[in-house]
Amino acid sequence: MNRLEAAVDRVLISEAKIAARVKKLGAQITKDYADKNPIIVGMLRGAVLFYGDLLKHVKIPCTLDFMCLSSYCGTCSTGEVRFLLDLRGSIAGRHVIIVEDIVDTGLTLDYVLKNLAHRGAASVEICTLLDKPSNRKVEVPVKYTGFKIKNEFVIGYGLDCDELYRNLPYIGVYRAG
Ligand code: PRP
Repeated sequence: MNRLEAAVDRVLISEAKIAARVKKLGAQITKDYADKNPIIVGMLRGAVLFYGDLLKHVKIPCTLDFMCLSSYCGTCSTGEVRFLLDLRGSIAGRHVIIVEDIVDTGLTLDYVLKNLAHRGAASVEICTLLDKPSNRKVEVPVKYTGFKIKNEFVIGYGLDCDELYRNLPYIGVYRAG
């Protein structure tokens, strides 16, 4: 076992399971947005792996853009969301899909949705790989979900602990200590 995998207590979602689910999500988005040329927004940095894989299965013309917000420090949510990078382009009149790695307390996406609300998008929907509903502090409308998970701290496939382990190709439960 290498030092990267030593941080994993157990594999929660394998590479194969992720790949199969991501393919289905991409196919659903392809169908739902067939004639809409959506803007697909990747939430940096946690969503990078999911975003890249998902886009390979979205087989319609679309615009790529990015946002970066941060609320976590170590393994805990600070409860305060910080805006680090905004969208490059206008979303006025466009259909927007926000791609996240995980919805946990919901505070990040609540902040994003409120922030985007005045920019005149035709629609804004959320696509998340992981949903941890038991930890929710504020409800957010999630349209596409990869997997619902229990309240465990997970790493890999974009998710970090102290900015490490994002490059694991699967989702694992973090081995504390
Ligand atoms: C993580 C994750 C989501 C958010 C979810 O981001 O990528 O954006 O937390 O948590 P919430 O529902 O409790 O707000 P983080 O702030 O760790 O930044 P990162 O994307 O760079 O990992």
